[in-house]
Amino acid sequence: MLKQLEQIRKDALAELENTQIQDELHQWRSKNLGNKSPLMGVFTEMRDLSKEERPKVGKLANEVRQALEAALEQKQAALKLAALQSSLDTEKLDVTLPGRTISRGRLHPVTQTLRRIYAIFAEMGFQVYRSREVESDDYNFTFLNMPAHHPARDMWDTFYTDKEGVILRTHTSPGQIHAMREYHPDPIRVILPGMCFRYEQVSTRAEMQFTQVEGLAVGYNITFGDLKGTLTDFARRLFDADVRTRFRASHFPFTEPSAEMDVECFICGGEGCSVCKQTGWLEILGSGMVHPNVLRYGGYDPEEYSGYAFGMGPERITMLLHQIEDIRYFWRNDLRFLEQF
Ligand code: FA5
Repeated sequence: MLKQLEQIRKDALAELENTQIQDELHQWRSKNLGNKSPLMGVFTEMRDLSKEERPKVGKLANEVRQALEAALEQKQAALKLAALQSSLDTEKLDVTLPGRTISRGRLHPVTQTLRRIYAIFAEMGFQVYRSREVESDDYNFTFLNMPAHHPARDMWDTFYTDKEGVILRTHTSPGQIHAMREYHPDPIRVILPGMCFRYEQVSTRAEMQFTQVEGLAVGYNITFGDLKGTLTDFARRLFDADVRTRFRASHFPFTEPSAEMDVECFICGGEGCSVCKQTGWLEILGSGMVHPNVLRYGGYDPEEYSGYAFGMGPERITMLLHQIEDIRYFWRNDLRFLEQF
């Protein structure tokens, strides 16, 4: 039996020597150390041995078992090391290489402008009022003093839905009526940002879809001087402390009197260039005193209350701020453009 044990040890170790794959070690283990292995058979057969023989055989059997277990452990460690070495050799990692740059997301340039506009008006005490993009004909036109067939409606042609009288808003001005009807009879100081839609020829300066920021102040004794002061201060904060502004008489059915505000062209300094079409001035918004009919539609008595309103286009302002020559870049989704901001 002692001889048999030596043979078991020899055979098992030889077999282990030839094993080169981790998975095969499991098979080797159950074949040589498992319950049905020859070695375990010896342990079972020991019961039948004489008292003299049993300790000798038992001692050797234990020695063989320990030797096999130690050899298995060693082999496992060796195979692990070999696998690591081979992966190091084949997948070389150069730790001296510079790291890969992580591309950071950023805000769209128009969103950046919008946030600057919000911040400036927030400092002046204006709250942001969100108003819907899908409007009724009444809110977009009639309540803004443009009854059906009013010629001014032609300036703002829009997209119509299948539902009679439901349209996409052409400007943020309908929000004035929503705000007035909600806040009436309290005084109001809000800005109304959002998307507008117009059925118009797309060009370098005009899109079918663009943002506007409307402003509305309603209260007692609000004058045209308040409008001029607020908007001039706004322009100084947005563009430059020294920027010059001017108001040009204009016409909007929902304001009376109405004015457009220009800022001095900061590309040519007012001398005249292609951007300002040689005028030295750039238009940034439309404005005026809220028309009495509009105040009435909002629920305010024009004998008691007055107010001013304005509407600006953040895309055009962003074009001025960054000297962008074509408005269509904003919606083209070209990263080469967007990554510059
Ligand atoms: C209006 O939409 C008026 N509701 C503004 C207003 C509000 C006047 C309150 C008085 C009181 P206008 O159509 O001019 O006005 O548009 C205002 C601004 O929106 C323009 O100065 C321009 O910056 C921007 N805008 C107008 N049409 C487009 C367009 N197609 N693409 C990009 N921006 C546009």
